[in-house]
Amino acid sequence: MNSSADPLLVVKDLEVTFTDQNGSLQALNQINFSIEREQFVCVVGPSGSGKSTLVRVLAGLLKPTSGSVVLDGVPVKEPRLGVGIVFQKANLMPWRTVLGNITLPLEISHTPAGEADRQARELIGLVGLTGFEDWLPRDLSGGMTQRVAIARSLIQDPDLLLLDEPFGALDALTREKMGAELLRIWRARKKTVIMITHDIWEAVFLADRVLAISPQPGNIRLDLPIPLERPRREEDRFSTDFVKLTKRLREAIKG
Ligand SMILES: Nc1ncnc2c1ncn2[C@@H]1O[C@H](COP(=O)(O)OP(=O)(O)OP(=O)(O)O)[C@@H](O)[C@H]1O
Ligand SMILES: [Mg+2]
Repeated sequence: MNSSADPLLVVKDLEVTFTDQNGSLQALNQINFSIEREQFVCVVGPSGSGKSTLVRVLAGLLKPTSGSVVLDGVPVKEPRLGVGIVFQKANLMPWRTVLGNITLPLEISHTPAGEADRQARELIGLVGLTGFEDWLPRDLSGGMTQRVAIARSLIQDPDLLLLDEPFGALDALTREKMGAELLRIWRARKKTVIMITHDIWEAVFLADRVLAISPQPGNIRLDLPIPLERPRREEDRFSTDFVKLTKRLREAIKG
C-alpha cells in the first residue's frame, strides 16, 4: 500500500518524441521530478517547450516514448478518476447549462441524479457561480467559463488537478482574480495542483514550487522552491524576494 508520506506523483526519465512521415521531433527530454501531496506546483516554459505534452502524459492521454509516470503508486497508462484536468479552452457543452456541464462526468459514471445535482451545486458555490446554475455557456464571460471548467474538474474529487494555461485567454486583472480564487479552492479542497503557465509572475504568486522548462526539447532547467509566506497578498508581487524569484526563473528559461 502506498503511504500518504510518499510523493503523490513520480515522473522518471520521461521522454516524448513525435514521429511522422516528415521526421521526428523531440518534445520532452529526460524529465524527472516528484510531487508531494497537497503541493501547488507551477510549470513555466516558452511556447513549444512541451508543457501541454507533459500534461497529456501526466493525464494518461498520451503514451510517452520512454520513461514512467506513477500516481499514488500506480503507473499511469490511461486517463483515470483521480485526475482532474482544466484546459486553456474550457470545451463546455454549448447546449448544457452550467449545472448540466458540471454534472456531466457524474452522469457518465452513473451517479444517481440527485447526488450529482447536490455535488454540482456545492461546487458551483465553491467557484462563486451561485445564481448562474441555469445559464448557458454562450452567456458566460471568459472567467465564468473557466470557473465552470474548474468545478467540472473537481466533481469526481480528484487527488491531482492538472491545469494547462487555464487563464491564458483572460485579461490581466481577471487572471489575477482567478489565481486568487484558485488558491482559495486549493486550500479548501486540499488538492495537489500542477498548473502550466507561461507567466512567471503568476507562477511565483501561486506556487510552492516552480519547474522551469527549457526551449524544445523541454527539460527541467530549474526546480525552484517558493518560500514566500501564505496567504499571499497582491502587494507581495512587488517585494524584493518576489522579484528575485521571477528573475531566476526568467534566466533559467532563457538558458
Ligand atoms: N501530436 C503531435 N504531433 C507532432 N508534434 C507535436 C504534437 N503535439 C505537440 N507537438 C510538438 O511538440 C512540441 C511541444 O508542443 P506543446 O504543445 O507541448 O508545447 P507547449 O509548451 O504547450 O507550447 P504552448 O506554450 O504554445 O502551449 C511543439 O514543437 C509541437 O509542435
Ligand atoms: Mg501548451
